Amino acid sequence: MTVASGTGRALVVDRIGSLVTNDPSLGRGPLGIVEDASVVIVDGTVVAVGPAGATGDDRLDADGACVLPGFVDSHTHLVFAGDRAEEFATRMGGQPYDGGGIRVTTDATRATPTDELDRLLRLRLAEAHRAGTTTIEVKSGYGLNVDDEARSLQVAAAHTTETTFLGAHLLPSEYAGRADEYVDLVCGPMLAAATPHARWIDAFCEEGAFGADQCRAVLEAGRAAGLGLRLHGNQLGEGPGVQLAVECGCASVDHCTHLSDADVDALAGGDTVATLLPACDFSTRQPYPDARRLVDASVPIAIASNCNPGSSYTTSLSFCIALAVRDMGLTIDEAVAAVTVGGAAALRRTDVGRLTPGSAGHAVVLDAPSHHHLAYRPGVPLVRHTVGPLGGPLGTTAPA
Ligand code: NIG
Repeated sequence: MTVASGTGRALVVDRIGSLVTNDPSLGRGPLGIVEDASVVIVDGTVVAVGPAGATGDDRLDADGACVLPGFVDSHTHLVFAGDRAEEFATRMGGQPYDGGGIRVTTDATRATPTDELDRLLRLRLAEAHRAGTTTIEVKSGYGLNVDDEARSLQVAAAHTTETTFLGAHLLPSEYAGRADEYVDLVCGPMLAAATPHARWIDAFCEEGAFGADQCRAVLEAGRAAGLGLRLHGNQLGEGPGVQLAVECGCASVDHCTHLSDADVDALAGGDTVATLLPACDFSTRQPYPDARRLVDASVPIAIASNCNPGSSYTTSLSFCIALAVRDMGLTIDEAVAAVTVGGAAALRRTDVGRLTPGSAGHAVVLDAPSHHHLAYRPGVPLVRHTVGPLGGPLGTTAPA
């Protein structure tokens, strides 16, 4: 069930056994954990965090369960049509992932009417919301021409403010052998059509996709158009992505599966977030990156789902937490922080990812007594209630 908090009334989430606030001044440890707590939300904003028993107009009884900030999924490709389950099955039989399937999804997306793209997106957003995600970034990147990129972003912008123009995802077949011409199209007419619907610009910096100079041109054109910068880098091998992202001041560099010492040094202590995508490494059989090495070097990290039909078809950040703890060397506390405040930092947001007075009243009520269960019980749907947006009419069901 989903619960909204923007009704003009005070919603009290009460009898919380263990509350993760992500505000160390409010409670124990870096997650700021408060026991036997309540949270009061008015018009979508947290107005009080305190002991259980607060009063209000509406009451959601957590019955001793754990409550966390709503998850912030800072990397998805949710506007698409078609299915690539066959590609996945072949990959599990030993075929390596090379990103070429992006063109298969591009053909399917171009051939799909806009209202159907919207319907498919809404289904995926509803699935993400049921799994605890309350803020989500959505990229284009399966249109790869002016009209289809613009309508993909228009569809996404109806549901989230965190929209990303990814015209430089892969060279479409009709531009084979003319990559620089395509980059000119991305930086010119495509960007102009995308900008009204986008907050961010992104590019896929990888051998087989776009090189450093091409990505730099895309990012600088996006910056000139007023967009924020992010980059796909170091997904399938070491390369220039991370260093380019730092050089350009990107908010986030995403994947970071293959990192050299120089990449870690470039990220250390900076404000370009390394966004790790463990479900993508799972689904493409890439080696998991050593997230411990990043945390120990003071690299800011986030974890996101990368939900897309090719390399990571999951909306479950709980699954991502379990993988990051089991296979990437993070503690459970670090992984939970990475899908909440970490995701918020990757989107340059301070209003989400925490439950503290003044922050957004977006919360997850677990069917579990502590956040440890998110890694301890992998694959189990532990989200009992999601409080607050994804956006639009989603998440507006009144409390039971
Ligand atoms: O993040 N790396 C590029 N883009 C997506 C893959 C999309 C696909 O295979 O369709 C990713 O993994």
